[in-house]
Amino acid sequence: MTIAYLNGDFIPLSEARISPMDRGFLFGDGVYEVIPSYQGQFVAIGYHLERLRTSLDGIHLVIPQSDEQLVALLDELCRQNGSGDQGIYLQITRGVVEKRQHAFTNENAPTVFAYAFPIASPSDGSPSDATCFRAVTRTDKRWGRCHIKSTALLGNVLHMMEAVDDGAEEVLLFNAQDELTEAAACNVFIASRGKIVTPALDHQILPGVTRRLCLDVLAAHTDWTVEIRPVTRAEVCSAEEVWLSSSTKELAPVIQIDGQPVGSGKPGPLWSQAQRLFHLHRFDTAS
Ligand SMILES: Cc1ncc(COP(=O)(O)O)c(C=O)c1O
Repeated sequence: MTIAYLNGDFIPLSEARISPMDRGFLFGDGVYEVIPSYQGQFVAIGYHLERLRTSLDGIHLVIPQSDEQLVALLDELCRQNGSGDQGIYLQITRGVVEKRQHAFTNENAPTVFAYAFPIASPSDGSPSDATCFRAVTRTDKRWGRCHIKSTALLGNVLHMMEAVDDGAEEVLLFNAQDELTEAAACNVFIASRGKIVTPALDHQILPGVTRRLCLDVLAAHTDWTVEIRPVTRAEVCSAEEVWLSSSTKELAPVIQIDGQPVGSGKPGPLWSQAQRLFHLHRFDTAS
């Protein structure tokens, strides 16, 4: 039985109830985090909390809980769900209102909801157990505040369905200048001629914790050249390797883009080394 946390109580997920007048339901007015935990140990909890605070600031939502209180409740949720390999979904919305109106005050109490779901520990870098992705490319039609981890994900959902409808698992998004932004649920890296490149953070991109941790690990444990700069569609489509990054996938190889193989069409050697290092060092920082 999955145990959830809702506004101070630990209860079976199936018994959790939220009012339809919650602004999270009415407007998608909330933010969230997905935090992996392996055998009771969070990956980069400090980075997740930092981004949560940035998202809360970005939507002008003030919560009474300190970081220590949030960690305590997440720890307890993991414990009550058996402390195995699990993802923790944490969502904070602007709470329940009497009247549906766009403008908000911060008078009502935020709704804090979290639950745990089982995850498989990603590959340790062996190509044989890599989860590979086929991707399609599209023009990014989401909103101009993608740096906020908003629960309002309809733009991402519709882009993901474009991938699914074309028999793929992810979509690589490009802005009006035909520069790479990210994927529907991941950040993106390319690797070519021994160089790793990823777009710089701005309002078009979610500042992924896995992206950040990957950059830390590559800086600390390799002498690879890493460039953070605009990446053109031509560079993505001719790259030797393309990787996705997200908390539940860590680094995952893209082996096909718009039906064409990426490099050899198999997980590449740089991905393998990067994911091995990520796996080894994922608990090193931001605990
Ligand atoms: C749009 C988008 N970009 C990037 C990411 C990766 O972020 P993280 O590494 O923090 O999971 C996600 C994860 O959900 C995402 O939804």
